[in-house]
Amino acid sequence: MENFEVVNPTRIVFGKNQLGRLPQLLKEQKVTNVLLVYGGGSVQRIGLLDKVKEQLSAFNVIEFGGVEANPEYTTLMKAVELARESETDFIIALGGGSVIDGVKFISGAINYKGEPWDVLERKEGCSFQSAIPFGTILTLPATGSEANSGAVISRSELKLKLTMGGPLFFPVFSFCDPTVVATLPKRQIANGIVDAYMHTLEQYLTYPMDNLLQEREAEGILSTLIEVANVVDHPNDYKLASNLMHCATHALNGNLRCGVISDWTTHMIGHELTALFGIDHAQSLAIIAPRLWEQKFSEKQDKLTQYGRRVLHLEGDNATVARKAIQKTEEFFQSLGVKTHLSEYTSSYQGCEKTISTIFKNRGWVAMGERKSITLDDVQQIILSSI
Ligand code: NZQ
Ligand code: ZN
Repeated sequence: MENFEVVNPTRIVFGKNQLGRLPQLLKEQKVTNVLLVYGGGSVQRIGLLDKVKEQLSAFNVIEFGGVEANPEYTTLMKAVELARESETDFIIALGGGSVIDGVKFISGAINYKGEPWDVLERKEGCSFQSAIPFGTILTLPATGSEANSGAVISRSELKLKLTMGGPLFFPVFSFCDPTVVATLPKRQIANGIVDAYMHTLEQYLTYPMDNLLQEREAEGILSTLIEVANVVDHPNDYKLASNLMHCATHALNGNLRCGVISDWTTHMIGHELTALFGIDHAQSLAIIAPRLWEQKFSEKQDKLTQYGRRVLHLEGDNATVARKAIQKTEEFFQSLGVKTHLSEYTSSYQGCEKTISTIFKNRGWVAMGERKSITLDDVQQIILSSI
């Protein structure tokens, strides 16, 4: 087994009717001025904003709404200004991955003296040195952002989507109430399943590892997600919804990566498809993943076979099982209503393989995957075959 070191300080408050715990958790943080950040309207529509504000009556609360799906740098910078003016000492993210990621950025940018975009661009010597503490109230199980220290920030005028993170950016607490699933559109529930499934596979579909526990845990999450996938049609079913939420958190809370190698290339390419075409994050993964596994089939065959036998219960010789595993996974995504071809989302894909390959080259991303064998030619081929 590989050596590893792991820490995750986030308190997960999981289940129904737990919001009453919020004032106490804030008092423990000695909070005075709260910045309450949310998205484009769903939390008002579902009545959650009022419930949260009720729990915040003992604190000075400033609200900032309007964070977009794929949170925009320019919008977040307005929140940073507001937080500076109001001497915010704690932030609450009320929303899905976009709002939570946005809050991670805001928390780091508040006390940053320079131009925060430089941090996202990883300019030399530019990094967030401190962060205002924050908690989250999750409204969409998908990204795992409620339980990790990563964030992805977009700047659409530059067609860029960049990552940030580090130990400063774990939420202090996260409320995870599965009843929010009942308020979600089908598309977002399906996206959540695909994103959690892909987070698991990015940390699993490499080559067989000696870390038997993490392999089984990943297979457990994948099997559970398949088992509860009909939550798309039964969002009020608490058993299904709670298991989806639990899986999504576990898929990216740092546990699965302990002592194993990963391959995040699908996410890397997917983020560029979102930046270029506005395709939902999970949809971008469903487009790229099957083609990437085909492109690197010989290198991933052993693990595809293991996945095919243990999770999908496929039979046959190893190569057949591995091929079928790709096909069945693509069919699983499609069964959720998530399309798996780029041309089903946009007609202006011409040349995007070259654009993305150039972006990767400029970033020095020229050898990716678990064996550092995914080249820029591979990236172009994967994108071309995904059309
Ligand atoms: O803006 P509102 O009106 O709130 O609507 C949102 C949004 O339009 C809506 N929604 C959220 N909760 C709802 C709801 N609608 C009805 N009822 C509710 N309870 O859903 C739409 C999508 O929300 P968003 O937060 O964008 O979705 P998701 O959670 O999938 O987050 C996607 C973002 O997270 C990043 C992605 O790149 C993308 O920017 N990721 C973050 C990661 C992380 N921090 O660890 C990892 C992921 O791989 C991913 O990259
Ligand atoms: Zn993801």
